[in-house]
Amino acid sequence: MAIVFNENKRTFSLHTAKTTYQLKIGNLNYVKHLYYGTTIEDEDLIYLIRRYDRGFSGNPYDSLKERTFSLDAQPQEFTTQQQGDFRINSIEVQNGDGSFSFNGRYVSHKMYSGPFTLNGLPTAYATEDDTVDTLELVIEDAITKVQVTLLYSVFEEKDIIMRAARVHNGGTETIRLKRIMSINMDYMNGKNLDIVSLPGRYGQERQVERQPLTHHVYKVRSGRGISSHQQNPFIALVDRSANELYGSCYGFALMYSGSFIAEVELDQYDQCRLVMGVNDRLFSYAVAPGEDFDTPAVLMTYTHKGLSRMSNNYHHFIRHNLNRSKFVREVRRPVLINTWEAAFFDFDDKKIVEIAKAAKNMGVEMIVMDDGWFGKRDDDNSSLGDWHVNEKKIKCGLPALVQQINDLGLKFGIWFEPEMVSEDSDLYRAHPDWAMEIPGRRAVRSRNQLALDVSRREVQDYLIESINKILDSANIYYVKWDINRAITDLWSNVLPSDRQGEVSHRYVLGLYRIMDGIIKTHPDIMFEGCAGGGGRFDTAMLTYFVQYWSSDNTKPLDNLKLHYGSSFIYPVSTMGAHVSAASPMVPIETKAAIAMCGTFGYELDATKLDKDQIESCRKMSELYHKYYDLNFYGDYYRLANPFEQVNLVAWECLARDKSEALVTVITVNLTVNGPQEYIKCRGLDPKKKYRIEGDGNNLVASGMALMHAGIPIPREIPEFTAFLYHLKAVE
Ligand code: GLA
Repeated sequence: MAIVFNENKRTFSLHTAKTTYQLKIGNLNYVKHLYYGTTIEDEDLIYLIRRYDRGFSGNPYDSLKERTFSLDAQPQEFTTQQQGDFRINSIEVQNGDGSFSFNGRYVSHKMYSGPFTLNGLPTAYATEDDTVDTLELVIEDAITKVQVTLLYSVFEEKDIIMRAARVHNGGTETIRLKRIMSINMDYMNGKNLDIVSLPGRYGQERQVERQPLTHHVYKVRSGRGISSHQQNPFIALVDRSANELYGSCYGFALMYSGSFIAEVELDQYDQCRLVMGVNDRLFSYAVAPGEDFDTPAVLMTYTHKGLSRMSNNYHHFIRHNLNRSKFVREVRRPVLINTWEAAFFDFDDKKIVEIAKAAKNMGVEMIVMDDGWFGKRDDDNSSLGDWHVNEKKIKCGLPALVQQINDLGLKFGIWFEPEMVSEDSDLYRAHPDWAMEIPGRRAVRSRNQLALDVSRREVQDYLIESINKILDSANIYYVKWDINRAITDLWSNVLPSDRQGEVSHRYVLGLYRIMDGIIKTHPDIMFEGCAGGGGRFDTAMLTYFVQYWSSDNTKPLDNLKLHYGSSFIYPVSTMGAHVSAASPMVPIETKAAIAMCGTFGYELDATKLDKDQIESCRKMSELYHKYYDLNFYGDYYRLANPFEQVNLVAWECLARDKSEALVTVITVNLTVNGPQEYIKCRGLDPKKKYRIEGDGNNLVASGMALMHAGIPIPREIPEFTAFLYHLKAVE
């Protein structure tokens, strides 16, 4: 059992292979947080908590005249409300009598093997090789009988703890949740912590920011109804001295695809508190007597071995415990070409076949017909919601088109944007009330489209049925599932006016139900997520999508930053990345080397390439297959930071048995007569000798030398050259 309960001390120690998390039922039955860090024995760490009379920090009434016990100065597993803890809170509930009070104390717990699941929300699953144990610990307000169950699943070998909270209304009156976080994480001293987040914008997703905590409340949030381009539902708290290889790093990833919030506070005593969950803005959720409310899950990891280990913990976990498709291991993902940047809306069935024919010579194995094939869509002003083939464009019909593609030896993929509706569509004309629009107001348009109220059952059922019909009508191998606007005008015509604060969250639950009804019923189809690029790239989505389109920005040099930032949590095997016609000064080989730090494919008009370009692409498609296992399953190391003034950007994918690695180096800025540059490898076996094939001229050197002295990078060469160093252990 990865969880040890010491009955005498009333401590719970949650052990993963390399970490321990400890909590304790403490004074007055408040549940205290004692430790999260490198593995320790099952000793009681209560000695860490020193008590002082803290002026202006109140004492719970039943602590009697004890002035040294204040929740304002106690590390806790979940907060109370109006009990003298003035820091950021994990719950804000309005009780039936109108009061805002919650005094949650331990009442019971249970432990079992296997991970917890949540109502209507995705969670991680256990593989055959995993040892997973779960603790469910219940705290309750004795007056209102509102309970919060704190859920912890310990994925022992993966060094991941999955957490969530479940509110149960055990009272007799309806309560309203104004704020309910998935986790509360307290640090006794957070003075030396930095916060790392992944902010961005459309076309520039997941850039990296790191800043020291000072006495503020830091908010990383999306209020856009999608997890967003602007912030990713991931943050890390790391020691100020932590770097890629050393130092304490705590990672937190929220498995949620809607508006979210992560807040971090460094308080008056340098204690640090982190909360993370559904955004409380425009949120108010009624829970009737006997009902439950489940929060989304958070995936936490800890390591004292720096940012690389933190990232690899997530990469490994995402590949094994979130991605569920056969395209993770059993079936290799094909090299694809997508029609979007090739033709935008301007195509017909003939053009698709022409691109496919030309692309075949590039080593392409699948063509994806992007936006524009349905309704009467010739631009982005119409037809969303009308999921039937545009016969003016696809004159031969979908099954015949797919057949022609299959006859060429290629697979066929297709694009959808299920959650949206155009005002100029049959769907909107038939069901205007299905769009998210507040009565008496006109909805905000974005890309000239409206969002459907997917919190409604009949809308969900319509989408499941109409999309499944297309998927079942032809031999479709792949689907790109897009969303191209943020959600505004929160309103649902089927909810009473005092429950409109539930719409944003219900939208996300509805979306997951639609995805269950389409994706889970088509296990042989490979699904890729997309949100105007990478605007909803999160760990919840990766339980449905095996990969996610990283960005509409296909400029290779911008992608260096995008991949670097994304790699803090997302593995190469999930990052959609294509070679496009953007940045003509960058050679195809370099574009392809960068796209190989992702799922690899093409996004250009193959009919416009000359023979040499086709041949370059063919060779690079071959290399994609050659290095597939290293890129898709290896450990990933960031070797040079593109956000700094560097001349080279580099990364490494290392086989988990350290027998092989691929080191990619891109020259981004080579000064005339400049210094000799070296790239130092990481994670190799120091005692092994490696032969460097590919661009390494078969140099042989020890792992020790390659890690500490490095590989010399040629100098007198053009900018934007890519070097692929393939290291192989010599027997
Ligand atoms: C979004 C996607 C693109 C493309 C277009 C189609 O912007 O990110 O890749 O599919 O939509 O409209």
